[in-house]
Amino acid sequence: MKTTDVRRDIPLLDELIYLDAASTTPTPRPVVESMNDYFYSYNANTGRGSYGLVVKATHELELARKKIANFVNSYPEEIIFTKNTTESINIVAHGLSWNRGDNIIVSNMEHHSNLVPWFNLKKLGVEVKIIKADENGVIDPDEVEKAMDEHTRLVTISHVSNSIGSVQPVDEISKIVEDKDAFYLIDAAQSVGHIDINLKKLKADLVAFPGHKGLLGPVGTGLLYCTRDFSAELEPLNLGGGTVENVTENNFELTEAPACFEGGTQNIAGFIGLGSAVDYLERIGMSKIERHSKKITRIMYQEIQNIENAQVYGSPENIYGIVSFNIDNINPHDLAKLLDAVKSICVRSGFHCAMPSIRHMGANQLGGTVRASIHYYNTREEIEIFGETLQEISKLH
Ligand SMILES: Cc1ncc(COP(=O)(O)O)c(C=O)c1O
Repeated sequence: MKTTDVRRDIPLLDELIYLDAASTTPTPRPVVESMNDYFYSYNANTGRGSYGLVVKATHELELARKKIANFVNSYPEEIIFTKNTTESINIVAHGLSWNRGDNIIVSNMEHHSNLVPWFNLKKLGVEVKIIKADENGVIDPDEVEKAMDEHTRLVTISHVSNSIGSVQPVDEISKIVEDKDAFYLIDAAQSVGHIDINLKKLKADLVAFPGHKGLLGPVGTGLLYCTRDFSAELEPLNLGGGTVENVTENNFELTEAPACFEGGTQNIAGFIGLGSAVDYLERIGMSKIERHSKKITRIMYQEIQNIENAQVYGSPENIYGIVSFNIDNINPHDLAKLLDAVKSICVRSGFHCAMPSIRHMGANQLGGTVRASIHYYNTREEIEIFGETLQEISKLH
């Protein structure tokens, strides 16, 4: 499938230039249609009953889990359905049993969703060690190794920073963590669906990722990849219907993962849609998506760097899908509003839910940055219009 085919499936793109994939992505027509099909033809709860509609809905939901598992090279029982990346991370933070004196290693380039849940554990006596990135927002694996000690229970890092797009050396960090007795959680919110991810190769115990960003699935879908070994360590917190094998008058017996983590009625339509989204990405081909995204990121970086009074964050060799920048004397929110008003260009502005990373990049006093982020549906022409519009605005200031 070519970019033009994908654009035909996303009518929204005829009316504007959408450069905010890092927030969420528009949903292609076949994904919406598969959800409609559920609502119109077999709307029923899953795993609750034996009539035909329930059997069909349950089959389709579990088929979606298989497709997603396959797509990232894992097993269906390792894929837990959540509502977003944030919930996936919180399941880990609240589900592990922590001891006073344990420590967690995390970087200063994280989204708040991969910081706040760990900071919250300080009240249990858990120490949070912050690794500082270099001037391009990249983590040095040696720093991770130096910070680790016998009390380190968990190391967690974002694969791609959502604030500036820097790609972290997750493979090298994985080797370091593997040699020690700690767990490894990757926040892959900005990489799954953008970069061809093989979870078995990544060798993380846990990977949190959204359905609604790179995977082109609907909002309200998130995933936690949790290895079989690790799921035994993790206490499910959202207990109730669907999570048990047996309940007596005064006790219960948990069922196995992933069901024990998925209490209550699921976002059935959303995950069926996500299964179709994964089919859709496979029809395009991940290697094609990667090639296209690398090219478009490079062009975008260059277009912005060509502006005399612009500052672009991160190094062009090591960013993926996201370009974060400022133009002198223009507040990032004002610039984003202008881009929208002048050419219907949608970009994010501000701190991107990653205040420490913005502070680290020196953009705190400026009110954050403007962030443009792409997917396979974005074209070179769109990026050129974006560049020209920025040039015009910058000349007025
Ligand atoms: C790196 C990173 N982690 C976590 C999140 C939170 O994702 P969600 O909105 O799916 O909870 C985001 C969202 O932008 C992100 O970019």
